[in-house]
Amino acid sequence: MNLHTIILAAGEGSRMKSKKAKSLQRIGGRSMLELICQTAGGLSPKISVIVGFDKESIIKEVKDYGFNISTCEQKKQLGTGDAVKYGIEDAEDADKVLVLYGDVPLIKRATLKDLITKSDDSLTILSTTLDDPHGYGRVKKDNNDNIIGIIEEKDASDQDKKINEIFTGILCCNKNLLKEAIYEIKNDNAAGEYYLTDIVSIISKKGFKINSCIVPNHEVKGANTKKELSELEEIFRKMKADDLLELGITISDPTRIDVRGDISAGTDCIIDVNVILEGNIKLGNNVSIGPNTLLKDVEIGDNTVIEAFSHLVSSKIGNDCNIGPYARLREGSFIDDGAKIGNFVETKKTTIGKKSKANHFSYLGDAEIGEDTNIGAGSITCNYDGKEKHQTKIGNKSFIGTNSSIVAPVTIGSNAYIAAGSVITKDVPDDSLGVSRSKQNNIEDWSKKEK
Ligand code: UD1
Ligand code: CA
Repeated sequence: MNLHTIILAAGEGSRMKSKKAKSLQRIGGRSMLELICQTAGGLSPKISVIVGFDKESIIKEVKDYGFNISTCEQKKQLGTGDAVKYGIEDAEDADKVLVLYGDVPLIKRATLKDLITKSDDSLTILSTTLDDPHGYGRVKKDNNDNIIGIIEEKDASDQDKKINEIFTGILCCNKNLLKEAIYEIKNDNAAGEYYLTDIVSIISKKGFKINSCIVPNHEVKGANTKKELSELEEIFRKMKADDLLELGITISDPTRIDVRGDISAGTDCIIDVNVILEGNIKLGNNVSIGPNTLLKDVEIGDNTVIEAFSHLVSSKIGNDCNIGPYARLREGSFIDDGAKIGNFVETKKTTIGKKSKANHFSYLGDAEIGEDTNIGAGSITCNYDGKEKHQTKIGNKSFIGTNSSIVAPVTIGSNAYIAAGSVITKDVPDDSLGVSRSKQNNIEDWSKKEK
C-alpha cells in the first residue's frame, strides 16, 4: 500500500476574524497545521498542503516542520471538494489517499493508523457523535444502516439536523476512486461550493460500501472561531497533562499546566500549578518544579528543586541543585551538581561549577565559575563594553564579596577573595585578595558639629 496525505488549508477562515491563515492559529504554542503535520508525518512519504489564503505564511512555516511537504495552490477557494483536486495531482504513485483538514488538529496518530488499516478499496470516513452537532456535516444512513451521504448544516432539513453522528473532515480513500469522484462534485448547494463531503453519496451511488470509524469526539473537534480554538486549547492541555500522568509525573492540578513540547521524566517528579513546559524537556528522578515557572528546552538532573517563578531556557542543570525562586537561566547556562542559584539571579552562557552558589541578585554572563565558589549578593559580571562581549573566569573555592563588579575580560583564580563593593578590572591570582574601592574615612564628631 502506498499512501499519500493531503491537508486542506487554503480557506480564509473568516470566522476566526484574523489576517492569518486559519491553520496557522496556534494551540499549545504550535500552529494547528504543525500539530497535524507532526501527527501525519511518517505515515506517508509525502504530504501535500493545499494553500490559498495567506499562502506565503504557510509556505514559509512548513519548511521548518522537517517533513517532506509540498504546497499546492488553490487559487480560488471554491470548496473542500475543489481543494482536493490540487493535492491529488501530487499523488501519482499512491494507491490510497488520506485527507485531513487544517482546522482539525488534535487527531491522534493511532487513530489515523487505525483508519488507514481499516480502509479498503472504497472510502472510509472518520466520524464521531456530538451532543451538539451544529455546524458539522451530518452522516446520513439508509434503513439498513449503510452510509449514503453527508449533509452540510446549511443544506440540512430539520430532520437531518437531529442526526448527531458527524463527519470529522478526515477520510481515507482509494486514489483512483477519489480522483473520479471529486470531478463529479457539483456546487448546486446552499453555499455554492464544491463540497468534498458529496463524494460520499457519489461513491455510494457507484455501488461501493462506505465504512466509518467512530472516534472519541475530543480528538476531532474543529476550530472555526476563536471560541472553538480556546475549547481545543483546553482539550489539548488536558490530553498533554494526561500524557504526563501516564509518564508517572505527579501534577498538582492537571487543569493548570501547559505542555507545549516533548517531555521525558524519571520517577517521582512533581510539577506544581501554572507551569509551562516548552520544547524538549528532560527531567531526571525526583525533580520538583515549583509553581508559576517556565521551562523551555532544559535538562534537569536528579533531586533538583526548581522553585516558584523561575524562568529557565536552553539550559542544563545537574543533580541536587536548587534553583529559584525567581531565578532566570538564559541560553547556555550549565549548572553543575549541588549548585544553588537563588532569587533574582540571571545567568547566560555561563557555567557554574559543583556546589557553587549565587544566592541573591546577580548577573552572570559569559562566565566560567569553578567549584565551591560563592558569588555574593548583587555581584555582576560586566561582560559587555558597548561593542563586544567578554569572558570572566573564576576558579574554585573563591569568594566574591557583595556588590562587586567584575569587568571582563578578567580571570580570578582559585581560593581568591574579592572585597565587597570592588570594581575588578585586573586579574586576581590564586589565594589573593582583590580590593578595589576607596578607603573609608571617618570624620569624628561630625553629627555634633552639624547640630
Ligand atoms: C467541513 C465539512 C463538514 C465537517 C467539518 C469538520 C465540507 C464541505 N464540510 O466543514 O462536513 O463536519 O469540516 O470540521 O467539507 N478549505 C480549503 N479550500 C476551500 C475551502 C476550505 O482548503 O476552498 C479548507 C479550510 O482551510 C479548512 C478545511 O478545508 O482547513 C475545512 O473547511 P471549513 O470551511 O472549515 O469547513 P467546515 O464548514 O468546517
Ligand atoms: Ca472547519
